[in-house]
Amino acid sequence: MKVCVVGAGYVGLTTSAVLADLGHQVTCVDLDQNKIRTLQDGKIPIYEEGLAELIETGTRSGRLVFSSDTASGIEDHPVILIAVGTPPQNDGSTNLAAVANVIEMIADHAHAHKTVITKSTVPPGTNEWISRVLSDKGLHPESFDVVSNPEFLKEGTAVHDSFHPHRIVIGAKRKKAFQLVRSLYQKIKAPVIETNLAGAELIKYASNAFLAAKISFINEVSRICDAYDADIKDIQRGLEEDPRIGSHFLSAGLGFGGSCFPKDLSALVHAATDKGLTPSLLQAVSDVNETQTDFYLNKLEQDLNDLKGKQITVWGVTFKPGTDDLRCSQSVKLINKLISKGSVIHTYDPVAKIESERVASHDDLYDSVKNSDALIIATEWPEFQAPDWERIKRSMNGTLLLDGRNFVDLESIRAHGLHYLGVARR
Ligand code: UGA
Repeated sequence: MKVCVVGAGYVGLTTSAVLADLGHQVTCVDLDQNKIRTLQDGKIPIYEEGLAELIETGTRSGRLVFSSDTASGIEDHPVILIAVGTPPQNDGSTNLAAVANVIEMIADHAHAHKTVITKSTVPPGTNEWISRVLSDKGLHPESFDVVSNPEFLKEGTAVHDSFHPHRIVIGAKRKKAFQLVRSLYQKIKAPVIETNLAGAELIKYASNAFLAAKISFINEVSRICDAYDADIKDIQRGLEEDPRIGSHFLSAGLGFGGSCFPKDLSALVHAATDKGLTPSLLQAVSDVNETQTDFYLNKLEQDLNDLKGKQITVWGVTFKPGTDDLRCSQSVKLINKLISKGSVIHTYDPVAKIESERVASHDDLYDSVKNSDALIIATEWPEFQAPDWERIKRSMNGTLLLDGRNFVDLESIRAHGLHYLGVARR
């Protein structure tokens, strides 16, 4: 199939490379000419395991090309896959300006039948609106199909997730549109769920909201564990043995971040309140997450007496390991709060740096802890699990280690004379 993927972000790039690998002829377009030039030069603008190799294979085979000419991309391809950004606005609603731009371009450049597939996460009702806009702009209803086909990949494991999805969700109106998307993914083994446009849009939001709820749930329970001197890891083990609960997304920590959970929760709350509903459970999921960093900031404050003037090292600034993405990172949130309390911040992260005069970013893990009063592990990068703790203890001024992801072995930390503070660990 000839597919034009609009948007060369995480989702667009991964989807383009995967579709090319599945045998389709893919043109990935983006308005950002620098990004396209970088990709044409064989470099990739994001850190994502396995993606560079997949893109290289695709470009070498001739099945994957990059272009900044969106109009030609739309004209030349019968299938248009929208993978542009849908960032949040201040009131929690979704900014659909980039989607609107693409629709406008499609309306102007569609001279034959187009199947318009929305991969970007968009609020319920958006794909109906896309259909309406295309009709209003003069496209005959028989000359296009609109399909909602949400993406479930995780950053850091995007390539693997795309080849091995738990399900493929297709929301459409016409049989031939369902069939076309089914055949696009024919080589991928996964259950296919067919629904209407709003159904597909809501499966995506409900999935992210449910996973976020699991994390906020365990974080709330961790505070209760803390109060009653129980170890959250024991509770986690006890919960995950029940298959109705499951073992995933039950790790207590500093809370969830990234470009999806916080934004999608707000968008779902917004979509519900728009219809006069009061989504109190979803709101609570957000509230627990918002206050999780404060909970540990208070603990640090108690331990160090005062945070003002204290030198604090933070390991890990991205929103999770395996990515260079800093969007809505709980680590960055914590760092900003520490700065506002007058702490002096040093950081180390294997792939990312915070661009700020108020943060000293180090290229070496051991350099980053010299003379620090406390060390915080904010992201569970593998290299933080078993460094030379003896050397770290000798370099530091204080002994406090806040393990914000319950990642390191607390016994060995204590054996080295460091004062271990985890998320509800005993
Ligand atoms: C999430 C979903 O997992 C994907 O299925 C979805 O496609 C994607 O959003 C999206 O909507 O595009 P992602 O944001 O890449 O993926 O990252 P996750 O691995 O889900 O992690 C999100 C946050 O939850 C991270 O900050 C992570 O540290 C945190 N987390 C995760 C916990 O605090 N505890 C856990 O047990 C698991």
